[in-house]
Amino acid sequence: MAAKFVYKLLGTFLMFLVLQPFVTASKTLKLASLQIIEQGQHRGYGVPDAVGQPSSNDTGGRRGMFHLVDNYKFFNETPKWKNFPVTYGFVSNSRIPVGLDSRAVNDSVAAAFKVWEAVVPKFAFKKVEPGETANIKITFTKINGTYYGFGYAPPNGTLQLDNDHTNWSTGSAPARNQLDLQSGVMHEIGQTLGLDHSTDHSAVMYDTLIRGTTKRVLAPDDKDGITKLYA
Ligand SMILES: *[C@@H]1O[C@H](CO)[C@@H](O)[C@H](O)[C@H]1NC(C)=O
Ligand SMILES: *[C@@H]1O[C@H](CO)[C@@H](O)[C@H](O)[C@H]1NC(C)=O
Ligand SMILES: *[C@@H]1O[C@H](CO)[C@@H](O)[C@H](O)[C@H]1NC(C)=O
Ligand SMILES: *[C@@H]1O[C@H](CO)[C@@H](O)[C@H](O)[C@H]1NC(C)=O
Ligand SMILES: *[C@@H]1O[C@H](CO)[C@@H](O)[C@H](O)[C@H]1NC(C)=O
Repeated sequence: MAAKFVYKLLGTFLMFLVLQPFVTASKTLKLASLQIIEQGQHRGYGVPDAVGQPSSNDTGGRRGMFHLVDNYKFFNETPKWKNFPVTYGFVSNSRIPVGLDSRAVNDSVAAAFKVWEAVVPKFAFKKVEPGETANIKITFTKINGTYYGFGYAPPNGTLQLDNDHTNWSTGSAPARNQLDLQSGVMHEIGQTLGLDHSTDHSAVMYDTLIRGTTKRVLAPDDKDGITKLYA
């Protein structure tokens, strides 16, 4: 009986020795996949091929007038900012797209932060220069493919906006071929605050923004997500 116990104990110990490297490896993998999440499909959201198709009538998502289901999502290990104000700014090599007015861009970005700021009492966002010193580092840059922006989770905080193939609108009514800058920035800010994509089609954190539309109001799902994350 005793021998059997010792044998079992030895077995467990050997098993531990064998598994230990895998446990370590899986931890590394998890970190690596967090990186991939930030760099890959989760760091931004793309304009779908069916650009211009109205999304508000699509029935694929779980949305309901009573908002019974939480569709928001956090990143692995729920990264978030610890100290407020959280600062933001444009990095030095940021180049706003030709044709866009610098003041209008600044106003759209400031308005996007204000919308998030209104939801969580401790939120405070402050613009600083240069953006390199900010928590949330905004840059207009050429983005490949169909993506128009990327937002990296804290503590990275990089917020990239396309200045190549995206026709941004800073007005109140984007044309059919234009993306609303404030809506896009609001989505990317959500990611730089620690919100991943939501499956709620009405959410700002839903992974797709439709050209010619605005989404400048946070959905209950967005508010629930950010409130819970920063509770
Ligand atoms: C949604 O459907 C209603 C009713 O069919 C229609 O009137 C409305 O224009 C649609 N909205 C969009 C954005 O397509
Ligand atoms: C917009 O913000 C940038 C970066 O902070 C600044 O350099 C620029 O002067 C601002 N534009 C206007 C019109 O205030
Ligand atoms: C964008 O595409 C070009 C050409 O294919 C490539 O050299 C570059 O590394 C890509 N940049 C990013 C950020 O993926
Ligand atoms: C954020 O992540 C990107 C991609 O991994 C990296 O290039 C950049 O240097 C990072 N920035 C900071 C401030 O960590
Ligand atoms: C962007 O869209 C507007 C409105 O449709 C259009 O007038 C403008 O020429 C477009 N800009 C570019 C660079 O395509």
